[in-house]
Amino acid sequence: MEKKREIVMSGIRPTGFLHLGNYFGAVRNYVRMQDSYTCYFMVADLHALTTLSETRDLKGHVRRVMAENIACGLDPDKVAFYCQSHVPETAELYLFFNMLAYVGELEKTPTFKDKVRLHPQNVNAGLLTYPVLQAADILLHRATLVPVGKDQEQHLEIARNYANRFNHRYGGEVFPEAYAFNFGEALAKVPSLDGTGKMSKSENQMATIYLSDSDEMIVKKIKGAKTDSGAAEPGAAMSEAVAGLFQLLRLVASEDVVSKFEADYQAGTIRYGDMKKELAAGMVQFIAPIREKAEAIRNDDVYLRRIMEQGAAKARASAAVTIQLAKEAIGLKYY
Ligand code: TYM
Repeated sequence: MEKKREIVMSGIRPTGFLHLGNYFGAVRNYVRMQDSYTCYFMVADLHALTTLSETRDLKGHVRRVMAENIACGLDPDKVAFYCQSHVPETAELYLFFNMLAYVGELEKTPTFKDKVRLHPQNVNAGLLTYPVLQAADILLHRATLVPVGKDQEQHLEIARNYANRFNHRYGGEVFPEAYAFNFGEALAKVPSLDGTGKMSKSENQMATIYLSDSDEMIVKKIKGAKTDSGAAEPGAAMSEAVAGLFQLLRLVASEDVVSKFEADYQAGTIRYGDMKKELAAGMVQFIAPIREKAEAIRNDDVYLRRIMEQGAAKARASAAVTIQLAKEAIGLKYY
């Protein structure tokens, strides 16, 4: 008998344009996993509502995220690729998990603290319970593997807590533990070009490379990336900015090219202009086909509607089973 495939789930918020961090932290692995696992991938539009004060751009962003995922190689016929709000069972499970979520714990979540700092005028309860909704997304399909970047690790730990609490409180083994996944490697954190933190959808736009950037824009951003004056003495530690550039180079250049620049750095003879040229050429070559393909998909109403409907149907079939199991375990069954 064929071994049951492990279940994979992940999501991306439609709050802006996808960038290299989203690609290398998430989408690349979606594509790598789609042939050998049962996969559920979604556009987290409900999560986006936690920070949006108006929703005028939501439709465009949702369509863009869908199109960019497909342009990167995600195949909606192989996976369930859906919009979170098209699967209302998500909200039902979110409600059940809210009974297992302690306010004190949620207040200590680093992502919540960051958002309070960024949006002090909009600290809503949805923001506080953001990780509860994320746990519901994952556990709705009883997934065990979650391809994400490093920044999502804490949310995964919270999801494991709720799975265990649920099983413990209501009995049974309804929910498994889910773990962040990157093929056994450390979770990705793609650095920003200014050497301060990571690439992000909405902050530091000139320090983030988007999958929709034109060739000229990519070259311009990389030209402007922060560097330093080279290794002060052989073996000296790299500045964060230069280490970040090397990390990006590794994503698009061959081992030989990377080794050459590393040796130059160690020898104190590195020419950052040459390294940036190499990096820009690699990035342009990587991004241009994705950008062009995404543009065509984004404007295809009939196709987008079809895949959204097909994705929602697959996700709802899986969700219905889980909701039934959860209700039975809780005791919400009266006849
Ligand atoms: P979001 O939309 O911020 O990011 C989507 C994915 O991209 C990864 N990522 C990065 N990886 C490496 N380097 C970076 N600079 C970088 N920036 C972003 C993120 O780790 C993520 O994998 N809460 C989630 C969305 C979500 C979700 C889920 C994820 C909702 N429900 C269920 C997994 C499972 C978020 O805000 O991701």
